[in-house]
Amino acid sequence: MTDYQLVTGDETVIRDGSIKLHTEAGFAGMRRAGALAAEILDAVAEWVAPGATTASVDDKVRAMMLDAGAVPATLGYRGYEHSCCISINHVVCHGIPSEKTFKDGDIVNVDVTPLMDGWHGDSSRMYLVGDVSLKARRLVEVTYECLMLGIEQARPGNRLGDIGAAIQAHAEQYRYGVVREFCGHGLGRLFHDAPEVVHAAKAGTGPVLKPGMFMTIEPMINLGKPWVKLLNDGWTAVTRDKSLSAQFEHSIGITEDGVEIFTLSPTGRDKPPYA
Ligand code: MF3
Ligand code: CO
Ligand code: CO
Repeated sequence: MTDYQLVTGDETVIRDGSIKLHTEAGFAGMRRAGALAAEILDAVAEWVAPGATTASVDDKVRAMMLDAGAVPATLGYRGYEHSCCISINHVVCHGIPSEKTFKDGDIVNVDVTPLMDGWHGDSSRMYLVGDVSLKARRLVEVTYECLMLGIEQARPGNRLGDIGAAIQAHAEQYRYGVVREFCGHGLGRLFHDAPEVVHAAKAGTGPVLKPGMFMTIEPMINLGKPWVKLLNDGWTAVTRDKSLSAQFEHSIGITEDGVEIFTLSPTGRDKPPYA
């Protein structure tokens, strides 16, 4: 049985396993948080350049959030000490900003979550550094298609499993591996809430999607096998077979007749090339 809980205003929201159903106040809050996430990801395109350190991007992301009156939701989250995650090549997710520099040919995910007026805008995009191989560019393109095909299934009356089924079918058509260990998630006042949005699933299974549900869809797709391992730093997830991995993430809300994407680029730069 799925438990749904109405969130109408400023009440305290806890992680009790229920799926939250939000009202117009929530949509308004998510629009602002999502718009900031998208503006930041637009700017990141200029910062991910050969020779730049990943820490320099993290610093600029933090500054842009603070300037806008938001805070990085990742800063201090379960001991994480950075303002975004930067995952290069075979890093699947949760790459930690450091003195490491971007190199020609890298594919890079930057994942940001501004917390603005109590609402979380969670989004990530891929960036291409210089000359990127055709097979890497194809992985990035197909991963973006996976995200958008998942979002297409997000409408009232459909089930959560319809999203993962669409993503998995598309990725596996190219013999790519869909990562199972990390999922999309409910969000809103909370960063990570129910439900878990798995990216490989059976159509017609799982909770029914209802207007007012907020969630992320954030497929991680590997050029090789789906298997991942965690590095000793406790955060960095990499592909076991060292194959390339790509990811895109949007925060969305289910509306009366479809879906609203809170984290769309204001300039149409949702995927590379960004020029
Ligand atoms: N933004 C990530 C997500 O999509 C979560 C990062 S948590 C961190 O859910 F602590 F690693 F930053
Ligand atoms: Co997320
Ligand atoms: Co994210």
